[in-house]
Amino acid sequence: MAEATPLDPTTTDAWKALGGIASGFAPDLRGWFATDANRAETYTFQAADLTVDLSKNLITEEILAHLLAVAKDSGVAERYEAMIAGEHINVTENRAVLHTALRRPAADASGAGELAPPAGFVVDGADIDAEVHATLDKVFAFAERVRSGEWTGVTGKRIETVVNIGIGGSDLGPVMVYEALKPYVQEGLECRFVSNIDPSDIYEKTAGLDPETTLFIVASKTFGTLETLTNARLARQWLWERLGASGSIADTEEARTAAVAKHFVAVSTALDKVAAFGIDPENAFGFWDWVGGRYSVDSAIGTSVAIAIGPDGFRDFLGGFHAIDEHMRTTPLEKNVPVLMGLLNVWYTNFLGAQSHAVLPYAQYLHRFPAYLQQLTMESNGKSVRWDGSPVTTDTGEIFWGEPGTNGQHAFYQLIHQGTRLIPADFIAVANPAHPLKDGTGDGHAVEPGADVHSLFLANFFAQTKALAFGKTADEVRAEGTAESVVPARVFSGNRPTTSILAPALTPSVVGQLIALYEHIVFTEGTIWGIDSFDQWGVELGKQLALQIAPAVDGDAAALESQDSSTKALIAKYLSLRTN
Ligand code: F6P
Repeated sequence: MAEATPLDPTTTDAWKALGGIASGFAPDLRGWFATDANRAETYTFQAADLTVDLSKNLITEEILAHLLAVAKDSGVAERYEAMIAGEHINVTENRAVLHTALRRPAADASGAGELAPPAGFVVDGADIDAEVHATLDKVFAFAERVRSGEWTGVTGKRIETVVNIGIGGSDLGPVMVYEALKPYVQEGLECRFVSNIDPSDIYEKTAGLDPETTLFIVASKTFGTLETLTNARLARQWLWERLGASGSIADTEEARTAAVAKHFVAVSTALDKVAAFGIDPENAFGFWDWVGGRYSVDSAIGTSVAIAIGPDGFRDFLGGFHAIDEHMRTTPLEKNVPVLMGLLNVWYTNFLGAQSHAVLPYAQYLHRFPAYLQQLTMESNGKSVRWDGSPVTTDTGEIFWGEPGTNGQHAFYQLIHQGTRLIPADFIAVANPAHPLKDGTGDGHAVEPGADVHSLFLANFFAQTKALAFGKTADEVRAEGTAESVVPARVFSGNRPTTSILAPALTPSVVGQLIALYEHIVFTEGTIWGIDSFDQWGVELGKQLALQIAPAVDGDAAALESQDSSTKALIAKYLSLRTN
């Protein structure tokens, strides 16, 4: 079922009104805060455990009203309903888009709850809830067996290291969540993640591992991805060589097959290909074509995480997603946090010329969150045509990037504070640290003995958004006794927009909430732009060419000859440099 022709948002009255406001726009956060004592309160919203302060964004009541009209005109709420009900809103692949079904709690799935869509809903002939929960049960049972030591390697030793082999959505989600939830990982278990086809990646990630206590999870939706399958073969080779060298297995086909059965499991939609690789389909966890790779960490793709933090932790994680799904579904647009954040991105991208968006977690455990969001946002919304194939009518897909604070402060914040570009930024922090360390001695100056280090850390979180919003005028700089010649260099313009997101603690639920928040921000923007946020044709050409070029890179003269002059010269140079 094809979606109707999308509305061209640029033709609407609300869009035109925003265009009018944007020309000659002179934001004034200092003034706006000075004249409206309730600004912070007005623009602070709650979504599950997330307190989201939008007040330091470049918006007024009038701007927000027009943005909300854009969301209404574009049918954001209606399309979200269509998505969660299983309509094929992924038009170019003719698929339903049902990542929200992955986290519907069993109570709702069984009809005991009262949440929409109705319990037991069937999409394309399949009982989605039943399939989701059957797979989750299988993943959880396996996770328990690994965690308890009941599942052992081929020599009878319990598993100590889980190596997830996958790329894109089959890597970025699991590794980001594993890192975010490190304090919840069972003692004695470690996960590692191999993604790059650069052989250095698997070399380093298997370095020092005991093959007898290592379990590989080959995670690939298609089970056809070059990087993942190559790494899976290298891992299998590593296992056979190491187990053989120590005399742990005999030099027979049978012994090798038995080793694979105990040290390899798979997560895929293509169970036939899993079997062809030599992994017993009994040890494979399925998912469905209605889960996009970048939306799949809450499916069996998260098996490494389920092993690491356990089924209870994983249920809590899924509960966090679901809480935000329900917020998205039931909250009016004007209080709907993902919708509001998506609208702000549209405002900055389409009216104020922003090209990028920074995500700055003040939580070290979220250090992979910006990288995760890069795939979620850019693979989803980096499109030039709309879902009916017509060209987009405005810019799409801002560039997401970031690093944890305070590291970023000592690197690129200079440009955010004083550069010529507008860079809206999301600041994310948690109130309760996993490790509430105290600085016993202090520094004898600014830091008191016994100072709480997390408070010191978050002082930076609060200070940065304040500095970006309100800046420092030339007069304020002069008042500090600064020499006139240096005054311009020390002025901060302010009016640099930020959103502050504060959660109680980095629990599995909160991590799920953060992911779902950004999923629905992406959805809001994609709907307004009229694009299919769930396909990714833009990654295909490079994949095809890599396979075509491979023989030339491997020294095939005829294949080399057929390349364009630049590619030919580069490959020839590579071949002349290669010595090992
Ligand atoms: O990079 C393209 C892509 O298809 C992503 O969307 C996906 O997450 C990744 O490759 C991995 O794909 P698979 O899980 O099928 O190996």
